[in-house]
Amino acid sequence: MKKLVVTGGERLAGEVVIHGSKNAALPILFSSLLFSEPIELSNLPAITDVSAALSLLSSLGVKANVTGRGRILLDPTSADGRTVPPSLSGALRGSLYLLGAAPGRLGEIFLPRPGGCNFGARPIDLHLAVLGAMGLSVSEDEEGVFVRGCPKGAFYRFPTVSVGATVNAILAAVLADGRTVLTGGAREPHVLDLVAFLRKAGARISLPAPGVFVIDGVRRLHGASYRICPDMIEAGTYLTFAAATGGEVTLRAFPPEQLAPILPLFERLGARVGAGVGSLSLSVSGRPRPVSVATAPYPGFPTDLQPQLTALACLADGESVIADPIFPTRFGYVPELKRTGAEIAVGDGFARITGVPWLSPAETIAPDLRAGAALTLAALAAEGESVISRFDLIERGYADYVGNLTALGARVRTVSDGA
Ligand code: UD1
Repeated sequence: MKKLVVTGGERLAGEVVIHGSKNAALPILFSSLLFSEPIELSNLPAITDVSAALSLLSSLGVKANVTGRGRILLDPTSADGRTVPPSLSGALRGSLYLLGAAPGRLGEIFLPRPGGCNFGARPIDLHLAVLGAMGLSVSEDEEGVFVRGCPKGAFYRFPTVSVGATVNAILAAVLADGRTVLTGGAREPHVLDLVAFLRKAGARISLPAPGVFVIDGVRRLHGASYRICPDMIEAGTYLTFAAATGGEVTLRAFPPEQLAPILPLFERLGARVGAGVGSLSLSVSGRPRPVSVATAPYPGFPTDLQPQLTALACLADGESVIADPIFPTRFGYVPELKRTGAEIAVGDGFARITGVPWLSPAETIAPDLRAGAALTLAALAAEGESVISRFDLIERGYADYVGNLTALGARVRTVSDGA
């Protein structure tokens, strides 16, 4: 296990190239099971969630051949596995996407309990309900979930917007017998990236209105090459880092439209934001202003940026209230953040933050991926040496974290746990 050592107090300035999206890469990787021809993916981020997904696919017989940096050829033609080892399923939440992707070609799949970030209850009832509505036989016990059958077209209205269940429904519908109409689905850029990839491979999917997907099942998909879209959460995270240090950052290889819905929030914080073609800049001088915001499905404020924004609000000149109705218990990292001198009171699904002029260096433990980024933000702002344990959780979703931070002028390094 590694720790991240941050000598904070430096103003971050410079450019960061944004990597491919974790949340697009995972569903697209699992969609390889729908194919009977090889596919080539590029702009895959070098993160451990992607390696875990590849190990899992390999256990089912999908062959992977790295053809360049972030580029991979996946050959699913001899995939025939129908069960997944628990250690691989438990390694990432994205393993859930096997439920939608596997039945169409393999006929059945048993998935031991999936893993992923542990920030409270993460039910899967909607995944099972939509797959059941598509005629699949679904059963669940303490060991895991078993799905069997050939998907059939269906009409399904999601009672709650769910990224994961929308992805699973799309995956199942692509090779289904007949037409599937989904309403109330998620429209995050990573969901639309999956749709763009599947369409390129011959899937018949149209989006007549936001959150509505009409999918006419096809007999087979053909091989395709596809470049994964940039990661808006990685992008948003570096914006919060720059804002916390009174710095300025330019994000390269990033379409600003992806974060357009939340840029006004950064402006309310006192940041100057400049959108270019394929780039986005942000600069802040002085302390951020306080904000009040609640997470919501896209185009709302993402739950995956909630911990980073909460950490940033700790430095604001006043009181902020940040609510997370998507995951009301996603404030478990607050005790760690408070070690830096932050003043935060957690209520039922929200945090009330009283900004302080400075944070102090501290030894903390990252409880999950995005909370690890929030603790990094506090460490970058605090003058002196901070140490964050469980760097492995941060590596699940941020490619070249130390390299990017170093390029921005931060003083960061990793050490092994014994050091
Ligand atoms: C969610 C986020 C996604 C983020 C990911 C990891 C949203 C809408 N989703 O995706 O952007 O990348 O966490 O942090 O922002 N729910 C149910 N039953 C289900 C599935 C979900 O009740 O079967 C509820 C959840 O408890 C939650 C909401 O629906 O309140 C959205 O969850 P969902 O989008 O499915 O979660 P993830 O796919 O993990």
